[in-house]
Amino acid sequence: MAETITDLRAVPRPAAYAELIGQVNAVLEGIDDPIAGMATISALLHGAFGLLWTGFYRVCIPGQLLRIGPYQGSLGCLEIPFGKGVCGTAAAQRRTVIVDDVNQFPDHITCNARSRSEIVVPVIGRSGELIAVLDIDSEKPAAFSDEDQAGLEKIVQWFRTAASC
Ligand code: SME
Repeated sequence: MAETITDLRAVPRPAAYAELIGQVNAVLEGIDDPIAGMATISALLHGAFGLLWTGFYRVCIPGQLLRIGPYQGSLGCLEIPFGKGVCGTAAAQRRTVIVDDVNQFPDHITCNARSRSEIVVPVIGRSGELIAVLDIDSEKPAAFSDEDQAGLEKIVQWFRTAASC
């Protein structure tokens, strides 16, 4: 198992995500526990890119309620209704949402006042149902691009192919 978390801030995003996918598969080899997957992916991403907040909101009541899962960073809010905030929007619409300026997102939920931009990616489980969203916050405005979307959507494929959910 990899013992260190690699700083990938200076690496072009597509190569950085290719490296991270290799790390996720190596660290989680033989593991199918979705919570172990969420904890590991949060730690790897957070360390790689020097982010403000990196973690998962799990589907607690399908179509209604998200609840905090494993994360790295400052305290996150505990529950988010479907349809509310960036996370609730991504969950309700089952699509990745990128917000360049959180102050311009009408329904943004502020967990950390230093957050400037955000990306939220739906996490789909083995049988095609939404099991969580991956939420990443940055102190920099417009920190996330379609390269991040593509890379993160590949990373969360782990839950569809390897996890027992
Ligand atoms: N900003 C998110 C809430 C979660 S935290 O940022 C950790 C949102 O609007 O959904």
